[in-house]
Amino acid sequence: NPVQPLAGKRLLITAGPTRECLDPVRFISNHSSGKMGFAIAEQARNQGAEVTLVTGPVALTTPKGVQRINVESAAQMLDAVMAEVNQHDIFVATAAVADYRAQAVADNKIKKNDDELTLTFVKNPDILKTVAGLPKPPFCVGFAAESQDVEAYAKRKLADKKLDMIAANDITIAGLGFNSDANALNVFWPGGRQDLPAQPKLALAVALLNLISERYQEKQDT
Ligand code: C5P
Repeated sequence: NPVQPLAGKRLLITAGPTRECLDPVRFISNHSSGKMGFAIAEQARNQGAEVTLVTGPVALTTPKGVQRINVESAAQMLDAVMAEVNQHDIFVATAAVADYRAQAVADNKIKKNDDELTLTFVKNPDILKTVAGLPKPPFCVGFAAESQDVEAYAKRKLADKKLDMIAANDITIAGLGFNSDANALNVFWPGGRQDLPAQPKLALAVALLNLISERYQEKQDT
């Protein structure tokens, strides 16, 4: 039986997109498939972790033995995460949370009248930053999808959000990342870096979880 460094550890994972309503029939969202988060959930569970998966709307089946909480909006995702976070050791934020929501959700369907339509959006809370800023935060892992200066932006997010680790990917590489079954990650932590080459998300999840458990253990020991 292989060593199970995550055995008994409790992981909280966010996944998928969020949906922000505009009126009773419409919303804005993004193309996140949720595959990376679900892969991490499945593999962490395989390694003996207790896993809670807070997910936006995705077309994926729940990995065996994983506790799934369905949400739609960023506000709902924040509420679900805050209700769970104190019972968890490690927080992995893979969700593609909408940065903005409509300032007001229309009570009735927005009618097709003028040639132009203007809507005002307000900023959503940053779930990961909120968790990492708690007095006793779990070990916090963020993701960063970047189209340029991957290393600089990833390191800035690591510091700004006070994360323990950030996994960055270059979204300009064809066939990888968003909606794809494969990805490559540049992983950074305070004082270190490792590049995980392009591979299926299930294999990548194992490699990332290995790094997480190493760093997590090291942080416990200091
Ligand atoms: O700043 P940026 O959106 O690029 O940061 C990405 C990371 O922050 C991801 O781990 C994502 O899940 C998390 N995030 C979040 N809440 C937001 C925005 C991003 O948890 N509102």
